[in-house]
Amino acid sequence: MAWLNLRRLFFPVVALYLCCIALSRTFQKRSIPRRPGFRKSQEPLRIPITHPFLNASNHLDLHREALPHQSKLDEASSDSHTQTSAKVKTVLPTAILDLTTCPRAANRFTGHIRLPNLLHNISMSPASAIFEDQRTFWNPTIFALPYWAQNQYIIVNMVAPNGEAYRRNVICEANICHPKSLKSTTSKEKYCTDDDLRILGPSGGLRCVTPSMEVNVPPTPAEKCLGMEQILADIPGFHDPKLLYSGRGEPILMVVSQSRYACIGLWAIDLRAVYPAIEETFSSSPRRLGPGPLMSFPTLTELTRNPPSTRRSYEKNWVMFSSSPSTTYIQYDLNSTTRTFAQLIGGGFTTLNMTDPLERPCLAEPTPEELANGHNMAGASWHQATPSLKLILCERINQTCVRGNPETVFFAVIQRKHVNGFGLPVRYERYFVVWSAIVPFNMLAINRHPILFANETNRGWTNEEIWDDLPEDLAAGKGEWGRFTYTTTIAYAWGREESDIREKGVGYVDDEVILSVGIDDNGGLYGKAKVAELLQCLRICPGRM
Ligand SMILES: *[C@@H]1O[C@H](CO)[C@@H](O)[C@H](O)[C@H]1NC(C)=O
Ligand SMILES: *[C@@H]1O[C@H](CO)[C@@H](O)[C@H](O)[C@H]1NC(C)=O
Ligand SMILES: *[C@@H]1O[C@H](CO)[C@@H](O)[C@H](O)[C@H]1NC(C)=O
Ligand SMILES: *[C@@H]1O[C@H](CO)[C@@H](O)[C@H](O)[C@H]1NC(C)=O
Ligand SMILES: *[C@@H]1O[C@H](CO)[C@@H](O)[C@H](O)[C@H]1NC(C)=O
Ligand SMILES: *[C@@H]1O[C@H](CO)[C@@H](O)[C@H](O)[C@H]1NC(C)=O
Repeated sequence: MAWLNLRRLFFPVVALYLCCIALSRTFQKRSIPRRPGFRKSQEPLRIPITHPFLNASNHLDLHREALPHQSKLDEASSDSHTQTSAKVKTVLPTAILDLTTCPRAANRFTGHIRLPNLLHNISMSPASAIFEDQRTFWNPTIFALPYWAQNQYIIVNMVAPNGEAYRRNVICEANICHPKSLKSTTSKEKYCTDDDLRILGPSGGLRCVTPSMEVNVPPTPAEKCLGMEQILADIPGFHDPKLLYSGRGEPILMVVSQSRYACIGLWAIDLRAVYPAIEETFSSSPRRLGPGPLMSFPTLTELTRNPPSTRRSYEKNWVMFSSSPSTTYIQYDLNSTTRTFAQLIGGGFTTLNMTDPLERPCLAEPTPEELANGHNMAGASWHQATPSLKLILCERINQTCVRGNPETVFFAVIQRKHVNGFGLPVRYERYFVVWSAIVPFNMLAINRHPILFANETNRGWTNEEIWDDLPEDLAAGKGEWGRFTYTTTIAYAWGREESDIREKGVGYVDDEVILSVGIDDNGGLYGKAKVAELLQCLRICPGRM
């Protein structure tokens, strides 16, 4: 490759930049043989991102400058796109059209599409413990470790408050087990012991193998909480933990805690700083030397909005997405009227809003007729729910596709929250949204119907209506199970043969995704399904056809 020679001629910085591109290429094209020289090229990724702090008044210039550079990086990382300016209209990747077909009809009363996959139990009680942990855990977050780690997953769970005004979150390493009678989807998964089946139930599930330890994140003081929010200022501890991989393969823990700028805000910290036991896993990639990805968030860092005047007093549900190892964005708002995202520039600071002003909203509010037919309730709203994953629009097994400049997108779960007359949640419906991985990251598609797992039900309908699509289950006496379920994280399931830690957040349409699901605010479950199952029956966003 020419870049190897060029490297001697240019400024070190240029060389580093080229390395970056070359590395991203190898990262995408797994077929290129690795040369020993590649090992060195981990260095460029260790340079911290240094950008000027952006200022509202010079926004336009910087924005314009940022884009061509940005798209070069994105081009390098997605290895296929010729787009060089945000002015070029986003072309819908043709492979998305394959996901617009609906293999199953939606339930005619509830409007849901039901997957054949079960939701499984999670237990925070390791077999090694002397006493079973009887505490109630909820709001689970699941994070898949690389295949070379000793265990498969990390779970962070909230402990239901037992009269104390303190939010307690615990972490453990966990494995999935299968009953011997059930065929496993991954041959690498373990069989359940009798004790596992006693704890998890007859279908097995996800169980801690290390004792759950309290997550030790420093408390943050609130700058200002007013009115009803005042009581929040004094509750120590964080909530809404999310675990995700950055573009560089860093394990990021995002939490909601008191804000330095307002009342409640979002903070990020590298999980290795909180749970050093996984450090070795991150620095022992079998096909790559070095101490593992540099920490962008070595200490608890508050994420911000720019300009500061757009900050809200209570912030939550922000979603990160990384278009390249060094380029990360935060999507703050996503609903039927507003989309706001900006690029992280280091230290938790961001650029101004970078949403394409020409983009038409993709999420919709029900029409009066749709409200009248009973699937929808008035007063419902859209909420971002999970971290995002990057997706290469190919099957992993299809080498023709993998080698042929495949297109990439991001996807995440958003929830439709239905409330009763008192504003209390009645049900959350799970939708997957897909957006482009190229500047300006236009929204591409969303599920036509909310997605349910096989044994999941949603409040608001009779048993006959809920199980209308499965008459045999209705006959077998299945009833309502769980008043409301909400999705907290998605991650590519453990067991893929990644060659690099940065591949953890990237997958193919035939890869499995694990979803963590909270139930009734007092329990945790998980489900697993292939990407193509979750992203089925998509509706293409307006303006993208
Ligand atoms: C932002 O830009 C304005 C006008 O150029 C300048 O007066 C102000 O000091 C700048 N603020 C910061 C924080 O740089
Ligand atoms: C989960 O555990 C309950 C008992 O706590 C059991 O009835 C149920 O069948 C289990 N679910 C699965 C999927 O195994
Ligand atoms: C969409 O989100 C924005 C910002 O959070 C909010 O101001 C607006 O009311 C929301 N729109 C709807 C229809 O909920
Ligand atoms: C961000 O930009 C989009 C597109 O112009 C706009 O619809 C949205 O309201 C903006 N967000 C904020 C917070 O101004
Ligand atoms: C493999 O991918 C190529 C290119 O996307 C496609 O034309 C072909 O139909 C795929 N093969 C299979 C077996 O899906
Ligand atoms: C399924 O739903 C029933 C209630 O309809 C519930 O008792 C059971 O625990 C759920 N789990 C499984 C695996 O069936």
